[in-house]
Amino acid sequence: MTELIFATNNAHKVNEVQAAVGNRLKVITLKEAGIEIEIPEPYDTLEDNARGKSRTIHQITGKNCFSEDTGLEVASLNGEPGVKSARYAGEEREPSANTQKLLQRLGGSFDRKARFRTVICLIFDGEEFLFEGICNGSIATAPAGSGGFGYDPIFIPEGNERTFGEMTMEEKSRISHRKKATEKLIDFFSTNLPDVKNG
Ligand code: IMP
Repeated sequence: MTELIFATNNAHKVNEVQAAVGNRLKVITLKEAGIEIEIPEPYDTLEDNARGKSRTIHQITGKNCFSEDTGLEVASLNGEPGVKSARYAGEEREPSANTQKLLQRLGGSFDRKARFRTVICLIFDGEEFLFEGICNGSIATAPAGSGGFGYDPIFIPEGNERTFGEMTMEEKSRISHRKKATEKLIDFFSTNLPDVKNG
């Protein structure tokens, strides 16, 4: 089976991506690859952060790898928190503080339109490829549910009445931004490595 290093230390993300790719690819965490570093995300765009992380891991290992960066973009806040999603309420990267800050910034606003956007950067055979996944939705008026992570308790995906936090990982994984970007990654492998298609 084709192995790929996923440049993240976030177990939730690894589980979501592995659930999306099934047995077609074996996703290896940084830890499993023997790399114990926190990779910085210093750039102003999701694309640049994803590229930076993949380049770092590729330089260290010389192996095929991918990374992703995700942001929650709220339309009426000009795309905030966006690339700053992790540190929205401070360097502590505290998810509940981030969600509280966002709820406060939105107040009682009726325009609660938002989207999660994921950018994956794959480095394969030394070449770089970018894949984007978007999940449209809206921001709830109060947190609901304890599933998922980050902003999940306040994000209601389009066509749903429940937040991501109220869904099982499988339910979220079927419709999420990460799933959509991952599907493009899988399509890439199905085209370029046909044996991956059939697992
Ligand atoms: P990063 O991609 O790890 O930099 O994530 C940026 C921020 O967005 C972090 O605060 C995460 O908790 C949050 N985030 C990323 N992906 C998701 C998601 O699927 N659901 C909810 N929050 C997320």
